[in-house]
Amino acid sequence: MTIAELSNVPEHVAIIMDGNGRWANERGQPRSFGHRHGVEAVRTVVRAAAEIGVKYLTLFAFSSENWRRPETEIQDLFGLLKFFIRRDLAELHSANVCIKVIGDRHSLTSDILNLLLEAEETTRNNDGQTLVIAFNYGSRDELARAAQSLALEVQAGRLDPSQITPDAIAARLDTAGIPDPDLIIRTSGEERLSNFLLWQSAYSELMFVPEYWPDFGREQFFAAIERFGARSRRFGALAPTAAAGS
Ligand code: IPE
Ligand code: IPE
Ligand code: MG
Repeated sequence: MTIAELSNVPEHVAIIMDGNGRWANERGQPRSFGHRHGVEAVRTVVRAAAEIGVKYLTLFAFSSENWRRPETEIQDLFGLLKFFIRRDLAELHSANVCIKVIGDRHSLTSDILNLLLEAEETTRNNDGQTLVIAFNYGSRDELARAAQSLALEVQAGRLDPSQITPDAIAARLDTAGIPDPDLIIRTSGEERLSNFLLWQSAYSELMFVPEYWPDFGREQFFAAIERFGARSRRFGALAPTAAAGS
């Protein structure tokens, strides 16, 4: 398959980057080795997505439940995010990429928080691809924070409860202004969302692929896009052919 043959490229692809630990384990290496190689896969996939015109790419980098891991692994993951931003920010900026971060920022230390803010601030006026980094992100936490913000507005008399519509909720999520993902890919063979974009995935196409994240490259990414192109999305309506025949 060549790039020219890809039709129906999704506007927004979100990826649950899973399997770093198992990839390392199969090589007799510590989990941190898998996470390091995972960062290289991030680089490859960000470029591949830009190449075919995917406008939004969201990457699940650390979940609100990943705090349950050993402290040393958490430190490794935080260290790698810092490494990625420090190393790649200038290049992403010159490639006209706009970086956005979703997730709860309150429990992050100031060094990482400042780096995330710097990445967002530096690239805020870029209008090429948008790279959304889900860091310390969990959908239930995001929805609870949105509910709190709505409750405060009602309490302050600025909002009537009847104005709490799906659009009003979406506007208070971390993803406000970002279209819902058309395609969600999870690597490593696991078939679950693990608290990722639960609201936003209402009509996303889900794709579970067997490769561990460090093995997910350009070719695997384009294969997923090709499979997406063959899917029929209906959003509750009828498929165009069925509607035409009625
Ligand atoms: C994905 O790989 C990276 C993060 C969750 C941050 P894992 O670390 O979950 O790897 P497995 O699933 O244990 O193989
Ligand atoms: C989901 O993977 C989180 C990220 C990829 C950041 P996990 O490996 O944490 O998910 P579970 O625990 O297997 O559901
Ligand atoms: Mg995992």
